[in-house]
Amino acid sequence: MTSRRRFLTQSAAASTGVFYIAKTSWAQKSPGDTINMAVIGFGGRGSAHISGYKGLKNEGVKVAALCDVDSGVLGKHVQAFDKEGQKVLAYADMRRLFENKDIDAVSIATPNHWHSLASIWAMQAGKDVYVEKPVSHCVWEGRQMVNAARKYGRMVQTGTQARSSRKGIGAAVEWVRQGNLGKIQLARGLCYKRRNSIGKAEGEQKIPDTIEYDLWCGPGPKGALTRKRLHYDWHWTWAYGNGDLGNQGIHQMDIARWFLGEMELAPSVWSVGGRLGYEDDGETANTQVIYHGYEKAPLIFEVRGLPESKDGKDMDKYKGAGVGVIVECEGGTVVVSSYSSATAYDKAGKEVRKFEGSEDHFKNFINACRSRRVDDLHADILEGHLSSALCHTGNISHRLGQKESPEMILEQIKADGFAAETFERMREHLARNEVDVSKDKLTLGPVLRMNGATERFTDNDSANAMLKDRYREPYVVPEIS
Ligand SMILES: NC(=O)c1ccc[n+]([C@@H]2O[C@H](COP(=O)([O-])OP(=O)(O)OC[C@H]3O[C@@H](n4cnc5c(N)ncnc54)[C@H](O)[C@@H]3O)[C@@H](O)[C@H]2O)c1
Repeated sequence: MTSRRRFLTQSAAASTGVFYIAKTSWAQKSPGDTINMAVIGFGGRGSAHISGYKGLKNEGVKVAALCDVDSGVLGKHVQAFDKEGQKVLAYADMRRLFENKDIDAVSIATPNHWHSLASIWAMQAGKDVYVEKPVSHCVWEGRQMVNAARKYGRMVQTGTQARSSRKGIGAAVEWVRQGNLGKIQLARGLCYKRRNSIGKAEGEQKIPDTIEYDLWCGPGPKGALTRKRLHYDWHWTWAYGNGDLGNQGIHQMDIARWFLGEMELAPSVWSVGGRLGYEDDGETANTQVIYHGYEKAPLIFEVRGLPESKDGKDMDKYKGAGVGVIVECEGGTVVVSSYSSATAYDKAGKEVRKFEGSEDHFKNFINACRSRRVDDLHADILEGHLSSALCHTGNISHRLGQKESPEMILEQIKADGFAAETFERMREHLARNEVDVSKDKLTLGPVLRMNGATERFTDNDSANAMLKDRYREPYVVPEIS
């Protein structure tokens, strides 16, 4: 029999296309009340969400529900709760979870193409949201999430946990802003992280029996599975992932933008790179430089998925960081090589200041759920949107690019000393990996001009068309104004 609520859901969805359900009522909560959390998607990262909230038991947090479209993954975690003597509700379809008005907040660690729709649906159901980075799969989605958070009065925390390093990275940001090292000349993000070939599948792959594939694909395209592993390797496909720039890289993109204090997308962006060193089913670049032309100081981002040399085990480091951020200032340099600390050096390379310390990012989210103050969030959705979008615009330039000889690339970028130097190091790194960029050419993307106020490119229709995905009914991300 169709319940009244189910009937309302179905009829409202049918008539308006809007997902409607009974709302969680935060207004009825007292400060000491239990917060019932649900975790959505826990193939990899979501497991850390589950343990993170379990660890907040003394803060009045309860993991009350779990949702994953893979019954194997779901079953394993439900059993673990059983063993600990706790009953947890289990869902495959997040829409059913959102109907449960006893759930106060959700924590989303699905693949990227689901982040925006899942978050907006949750907010429409009156729930606060912790959503993994990148918060969106394309630029437009992120802005709808910001609009939804404000419109529905929800707390939305981005999973960029380095933002909870207030005494470490945050203190360094403040110190630099006070002018202690003079003006910033360049913020450089680094993602030197080994990414091996994902292999080549022969023909269409069987969808594992445990997975509800329609729900897994959701707002993304539902095509044949053409990579060996359904889980995780979606990161390297454009349909569902955003490459390492939008995977590991978004953390460092965010820290670099934090130092710059920029609250709009950069007025210009271009990319150079490629997927080099092996041939596999992945599509995204494993080697890439992205140049964001902010007026005060540029933000340059470097992705390296290949090791320091062919058959080498180690990854490169630049000024002491492999996955990190280097902020070049008139009077010295700040190096951020972890999620919880930063070190400042003078021009002579002498350490002048060390900043250390980090708080629990999940706990910060819970605190903000209780205080109902957006300012209490360490990584409000607006910050998450902007930093995610900086990855997307870099990838748009890459995807619109053409293969060029190294001489031609250098010719086009040499007027900018930072860009030319970064490109030379990229070339040298590829040479150590026996990639000859004269033969395996790099893709140089166009310089795209952005209107930060409208978040649209000013001079490129093809690029504008890539700001928003095409959604598959009924998984359509709504426009929120
Ligand atoms: N903050 C961090 O440090 C950090 C670290 C790793 C990953 N991440 C992010 O976490 C997210 C997940 O990454 P991962 O590596 O764990 O991916 P994964 O593919 O290993 O796991 C994703 C899980 O989500 C499930 N899922 C897919 N669609 C779903 C849906 N509609 N409803 C419920 N469950 C669904 C899958 O079945 C799978 O179990 C990504 O966005 C990634 O960028 C963040």
